Amino acid sequence: MKEKILHMLLRSHTYVSGEELSKELSITRSAIWKYIKALKEEGYTIDSVTNKGYRLTSTDQAFNAYELEKELNTVILGKEAIFLKAVDSTNEEIKRQAKKDADHGLIVIAEEQTSGKGRLGKLWSSEKGSGLWFSILLRPDLDPSHVPGITLAAGLGVCKAIRSFTGCNAQIKWPNDIIVGNKKICGILTEMTAEADRIDHAVVGIGINVNNVSFPAELSEKATSLRIETGEFVSRTKLLQTILYELEIQLDEYMLNPQASFLSDYYELCATLGRTVTVIRNGKEYVGVAKDIGANGALMVKTESGETLAVTSGEVAVQGIY
Ligand code: BTN
Repeated sequence: MKEKILHMLLRSHTYVSGEELSKELSITRSAIWKYIKALKEEGYTIDSVTNKGYRLTSTDQAFNAYELEKELNTVILGKEAIFLKAVDSTNEEIKRQAKKDADHGLIVIAEEQTSGKGRLGKLWSSEKGSGLWFSILLRPDLDPSHVPGITLAAGLGVCKAIRSFTGCNAQIKWPNDIIVGNKKICGILTEMTAEADRIDHAVVGIGINVNNVSFPAELSEKATSLRIETGEFVSRTKLLQTILYELEIQLDEYMLNPQASFLSDYYELCATLGRTVTVIRNGKEYVGVAKDIGANGALMVKTESGETLAVTSGEVAVQGIY
């Protein structure tokens, strides 16, 4: 019913009266009013004037499955999408859907996460409305050892999409944080469920600060948003369409040939390479220079004592970046 009302408003270039809507759809005017309220909550700008009715003035901020589908240029990613007002974590929701046999490519998007998860067991602050919080279900035919590569490929796809859609000079902090300047704009959490030699499914969870105009004091030194960087409101729907398009290209390429030497664009966009880094391993701190990306996406670090470490997980501090 909500979509029928939307279509009537989209078709008309002027006001549509409550009476006309109510007659055409055979529902009461107060029901119409409730649907209009729900459409406004999804971001549609609708003008309501007594004795004239309702007029749709902008869809720029609309964020729902219908708007996403309109201009989504992917083959599979996001063709099935679940939009939620609130959820504990979109990664957890994808896992629940995976248990119910959901297919490769499903995405779950939430306006708000009540227990958003970050890497290394940290919390991910996911306040309502300003960010893009979503997760993708992948069922790749890969050996579990190739999952770290999925993470890097996802980081590359998101980075490219942010660059092309906003013009921001986004870069990747290994393995897959996206930064602008020296501040974080996006984090990615990949989780997998596997048997010994086969992935059942992987979940790629992506959190992007989009329209935040400020951050709490404890985050403002290290976090930024696309709105802060561009000075403009950014459409989450259009950004998501661009991200899914780029992600599909990068993920398909990686999943087809995970043995290939790592995605060449990754090198160009990785801010960590060539920088001094600090790595903590088994409680010991190593300082070195990030030299290369090795097998399965490991960061190759040449330490001050001349040894080369292949870093596959954990926290790597990069000098000069938050
Ligand atoms: C990090 O940098 O620590 C990773 C952050 C990942 C956050 C996203 S938001 C959508 C998805 N759902 C979650 O609970 N986490 C990821």
